[in-house]
Amino acid sequence: MLKVIEKSSYFNFSTTFGAQLFKHMPSLAAVIDRDYRIVLSNNKFDDKFGESDGQLCYCVYKKYNSICKHCAAQKTFVDGKVRVMEEKGVDSRGMPTFYVVHFVPLFDDDTGQITHVVKMSYDVTEQLEKERLAAVGETVAIIAHAIKNILVGLQGGMYKLKSGHKKDSSDLVNKGWEIMDRNFSRVARLTKGLLMMSRKSTLARSKVSPNTIANNVYNLYKDAAEEAGITLETNFSDKCCSVELDVQGIHECLENLLSNAIDACKTSGTTDKTITIDTQLSDSELVFEIYDSAEKIPQELEAKLFEMFFSTKGANGSGLGLAVTRKIVMEHGGRLELDQTCKQGKVFRIAVPCLNMEN
Ligand SMILES: Nc1ncnc2c1ncn2[C@@H]1O[C@H](COP(=O)(O)OP(=O)(O)OP(=O)(O)O)[C@@H](O)[C@H]1O
Ligand SMILES: [Mg+2]
Repeated sequence: MLKVIEKSSYFNFSTTFGAQLFKHMPSLAAVIDRDYRIVLSNNKFDDKFGESDGQLCYCVYKKYNSICKHCAAQKTFVDGKVRVMEEKGVDSRGMPTFYVVHFVPLFDDDTGQITHVVKMSYDVTEQLEKERLAAVGETVAIIAHAIKNILVGLQGGMYKLKSGHKKDSSDLVNKGWEIMDRNFSRVARLTKGLLMMSRKSTLARSKVSPNTIANNVYNLYKDAAEEAGITLETNFSDKCCSVELDVQGIHECLENLLSNAIDACKTSGTTDKTITIDTQLSDSELVFEIYDSAEKIPQELEAKLFEMFFSTKGANGSGLGLAVTRKIVMEHGGRLELDQTCKQGKVFRIAVPCLNMEN
């Protein structure tokens, strides 16, 4: 059977087993020549794009007027390598369609030159849509669950508040108010996190001293740390310089990491409860490190930490802090790492490339 395919050219394909295989195969297949014209297509392809013989590949697949920017077929014509790409096309009804496409070179028997490329496309539109809907459904369920929990909290607070008024008990009123306040903060945190995750990158970079941002975050949390019996220290790089950063974004990241470190120390069984905020600067990279002395994170959880909605804090965590932090850091072209190689505790590290550094 293979021999049949090898010996047949597309001109006499119609008489071979290979031709039948080509015509009836379950994926969309088209053979294009060096001018990117379709010289042969199979049934599945014709069903999707209509009769396309002699037409330009990019017109048929994508309704473009010129060759695609990063045309994989062009590369395969040059190096003869088989390529697999994910591509988005437009079918004959104008519907966007998603494919996994294999680009396979065809060689001339005599000259050994690549004369044609076969594009074999597997339509994954339905599959992607199903996955997208499942992901949307899952996200909505998680958000609904989080909101429901907050509502239960608010109801509890309101009940206490009402009873306090009825019984003229300032103690109950205060308790009720405290619960409501806590739950309003939860709503605010959840909404802020969701907005951060859904927004497109809109970094507002300005020249700023990284130490100033880190110091502002330190000042915000030092009282809470002290109250919880945690030693909060800073160790800032003495290289005084300014770097282009999104101040609010980096501030948010450091707050997320520091509040996590404080939570971890609060529930930690270790006698030493220390957190250090560290800044380091090299020629090319700015690094912020938040060290905490609390127990290490089990290896099996490490990969999950950065997922949206992953939290081990029950009602006290939305599970968005690290996901948001990673998003902001990546928008800066940087990376967020968890380093657990230290003897005790762990370090969450933000490393971003230094843009337009100034002394
Ligand atoms: N320094 C840390 N030490 C131990 N565990 C941590 C630390 N930082 C994060 N984690 C773990 O990672 C999980 C996810 O953190 P993340 O900040 O994304 O969400 P969260 O703190 O639970 O909620 P929130 O969205 O309110 O910040 C936490 O629930 C916790 O289990
Ligand atoms: Mg957090």
